[in-house]
Amino acid sequence: MMASPNPDMCLAVLIVAAGRGMRAGGEIPKQWQPLAGRRVIDWTLSAFADVPDLTTVLCVVHPDDIDQLPNTRCVSGGDTRAASVRAGLEALADDDITHVLIHDAARPCISAKVIAGVTEALRQAPAAAPGAPVTDTLWRGEDTQITGTVDRGGLFRAQTPQGFAYDAIRAAHRAHDGAATDDVGVARAAGIPVTMTKGDPDNLKITTPGDFARAERILKAEMTPDIRTGNGFDVHRFGPGDHVMLCGVSIPHDRGLQGHSDADVGLHTITDAIYGGLAEGDIGRHFPPSDSQWKGADSRLFLEHAVALARARGYVISNIDCTLICEFPKIGPHAPAMTETLSDITGLVPDRISVKATTSERLGFTGRGEGIAALATVTLVGA
Ligand code: CTP
Ligand code: MG
Repeated sequence: MMASPNPDMCLAVLIVAAGRGMRAGGEIPKQWQPLAGRRVIDWTLSAFADVPDLTTVLCVVHPDDIDQLPNTRCVSGGDTRAASVRAGLEALADDDITHVLIHDAARPCISAKVIAGVTEALRQAPAAAPGAPVTDTLWRGEDTQITGTVDRGGLFRAQTPQGFAYDAIRAAHRAHDGAATDDVGVARAAGIPVTMTKGDPDNLKITTPGDFARAERILKAEMTPDIRTGNGFDVHRFGPGDHVMLCGVSIPHDRGLQGHSDADVGLHTITDAIYGGLAEGDIGRHFPPSDSQWKGADSRLFLEHAVALARARGYVISNIDCTLICEFPKIGPHAPAMTETLSDITGLVPDRISVKATTSERLGFTGRGEGIAALATVTLVGA
């Protein structure tokens, strides 16, 4: 769980799942039916896993289903949604909470953003709930006849989670006559003002059989993996010296490579490819050549920085492919040591690292032995 940005707020979420899902069809109630690889309710529960300040999760289920969620605290619900909510609220009486979010198990596509909208509003208000604007034109009808059009201005679709100061909503439910259709109705009947936060059309309540396919499409779209590739290219000129640094390995040679740092063209290229994948510019942006502290620097530093940045941004490096272009020195004999060094710096297993080389058939500056060029591709996968 994340650190609490507000030490005064202690949140519980009440997931109401005691209904029988009559309109949704199927052999078992909708919340237990499969959806995109797990049960509807598993999606709902996992949506609340990382909510800041959340200390308690309680599910209200039908007495027949009390063993369905062995890892989640459950209590039995009642014959109506309101009765189920009330059972859940009473069960939280001894928990050390200040606020409660009440959410339908049948809304598995709830986003972190909609939840955050409600919890943020609760810092200023005793109650908050998401509303989504009505976009369709609304008609009145009788049998098969359209008898009028309703102005949709000022109309919103009520969604959950609906959030409340715990003591206030418990008292409101105790005092309620049972006519309200949701907890906002109960709160308002008790005179509690309710702030409306931004709802989301994707936060649908699975109600009829066709809703499963729509919910599955929404969840699968969110699961689309975040994959990025980055490329790098670098050149260093030969000058006087007795070795070259390539991919972190010192190779004896009758000349050296010139550059501000240790001129390791392989490490520079791979580093640039990672920065490229992150859209974070290049080495020059992070380690300006004008800064004397990088003079003669071990280029390992640069790659370590790029790897740490990728990790901090939530990416895992999936693979690295680097090609060195030169006539001499011959790379092949040193490639295994380079792979090992890159593995050591990046933490990738060696079979995700490729170091290969080519000549340029004696053509161009690499062919004439004036310098070494390198290019690299990396793949970053959002964790
Ligand atoms: N709910 C509940 N207890 C009830 C009735 C409903 O906890 N007695 C829950 C449902 O499980 C659902 C949410 O309240 O997560 C919203 O209700 P609804 O969509 O109407 O679900 P069901 O009542 O199960 O469906 P139906 O009305 O089609 O039978
Ligand atoms: Mg119902």
